[in-house]
Amino acid sequence: MDLEKLREVFKEHAKKEIGLGDPWLDEDFNEFKNMIEALDVKEGDILYVGAGTGFGVYVLSELLKDRGKIYAYEIDPNNIEVTKKNLDSLKDVMNYDNIILKECDGFIHNKKVDNIVITAGAPYEQNEQNSELYEYLESHLNVGGKTVIPFGHLGKIYHDVVCIGKAYGLENVDGKITSKVISDHSGMWYPLRGRYGFSDEKIQRVQKEPPLVELI
Ligand SMILES: C[S@@+](CC[C@H](N)C(=O)[O-])C[C@H]1O[C@@H](n2cnc3c(N)ncnc32)[C@H](O)[C@@H]1O
Repeated sequence: MDLEKLREVFKEHAKKEIGLGDPWLDEDFNEFKNMIEALDVKEGDILYVGAGTGFGVYVLSELLKDRGKIYAYEIDPNNIEVTKKNLDSLKDVMNYDNIILKECDGFIHNKKVDNIVITAGAPYEQNEQNSELYEYLESHLNVGGKTVIPFGHLGKIYHDVVCIGKAYGLENVDGKITSKVISDHSGMWYPLRGRYGFSDEKIQRVQKEPPLVELI
């Protein structure tokens, strides 16, 4: 399916509620496209961590149709409201019976799935076999299943604390996770929070540091 077309439909129907000003719709659209293409969605359930504006959830819902469910989780109460409003404004042009949306840390999901999409940047030190995040991914991804996840380090850009890093594609090959980089350059991501993310203390500490990039 044509991802550009889905982006236009999303922008047309949800444009009043793009509260996050999500760059995935504009300058980072190619990054989003790389991630979706790396997943190769055909059928089966998807765990989606970080619903944000609802854009990625909408796209996957359209790609999957009735061949599986999308368990979409969002930790931030404001962002889940944005997602709800956006998906609601799209209800006449999509079938969202395949979406289960919930406000919580996405890693509470306890069933195996065929794809995992993590849209917030995870701590790079976690990007090692045997880390707790890897164990979670290994034990929740069906054999043959694929995950996309950005890994990086925290930094302060202007006033915002962001995760600066690259998107990785992970695959469960016969019970073992293999990994490859899917971005050609480092980007800026919302920091992953919750159980396997950056702690609130760490985010607050970086918030007090001088920015890596200052306004001139
Ligand atoms: C870049 S935004 C996602 C953009 C989104 N995928 C879209 O299509 O608009 C990242 C989101 O992840 C959320 N988030 C961070 N850590 C999370 C966690 N552990 N569980 C669920 N959501 C999380 C943030 O609150 C933020 O809304």
